[in-house]
Amino acid sequence: MKVVAINGSPQGEKGNTALILGPFLEGLKAAGADVRVFLTKAMTVHPCQGEYNCWFRTPGRCFQEDDMQTLLPEVVEANVLVLATPLYVDGMTGPLKTVVDRMIPLGDPKIEMRGDHCRHPGRSTVKDRKMVLVSNCGFWELDNFDTLVSHVQAIARNLDAAFAGALLRPHGPAFKAMLDRHLPVTDVLDAARDAGRQLIETGSIAPETLSAVSRPLLPRDQYVATANQHMARRG
Ligand SMILES: Cc1cc2nc3c(=O)[nH]c(=O)nc-3n(C[C@H](O)[C@H](O)[C@H](O)COP(=O)(O)O)c2cc1C
Repeated sequence: MKVVAINGSPQGEKGNTALILGPFLEGLKAAGADVRVFLTKAMTVHPCQGEYNCWFRTPGRCFQEDDMQTLLPEVVEANVLVLATPLYVDGMTGPLKTVVDRMIPLGDPKIEMRGDHCRHPGRSTVKDRKMVLVSNCGFWELDNFDTLVSHVQAIARNLDAAFAGALLRPHGPAFKAMLDRHLPVTDVLDAARDAGRQLIETGSIAPETLSAVSRPLLPRDQYVATANQHMARRG
């Protein structure tokens, strides 16, 4: 089982997104998956130029010579594609969106009906492909992720992949601070690890496990007060 994870956080491995992505990938590996991780921070990926060369002139290949030439063949072979991103203005980060735009060579220009909807056929031969979202945000409420989850579900439908769930960590900066202070929040890391193991062993992630990743860590008014004190000290 091949897993390709793309982390779109500008903070890369030291960011809050990586705090959940890390144990999730550990769980996938422990269950036997071959996991490849790509950091957009460490890659050069230019925006799609909308020329459609990858559809008509050189089918399946973009004319831009950058790190997408390495990533795209990995994505083609992936059984599981993990998109990891902090929530930026209610969506994914720009660099991750640029990478997703540059997956257009994976589609064939022909339009086909899949179910009752227009789609482009994919070039990958991988069957039963799955997609997972890992995200982290600064506000307290879980519903801050709604637009991002909806977007990634739509991407999964277009890539003919099954959306296997989202590991969402609201009030993410508090999670890091609480881990640093050795407060009792490591159950969240255990749940993320368990989610990875479940996905490989059973093909899905239990809703209770996803809820455990997202569980409230402290009351909202306490989070707002603590966060504001922290901002005042930085400002
Ligand atoms: C440009 C920018 C936009 C952001 N937009 C949101 C947002 O819309 N909602 C939210 O809850 N947090 C938002 N945040 C906070 C980040 O999602 C949060 O700090 C996250 O934990 C950062 O993860 P990282 O360390 O992996 O980059 C934003 C942060 C930045 C820098």
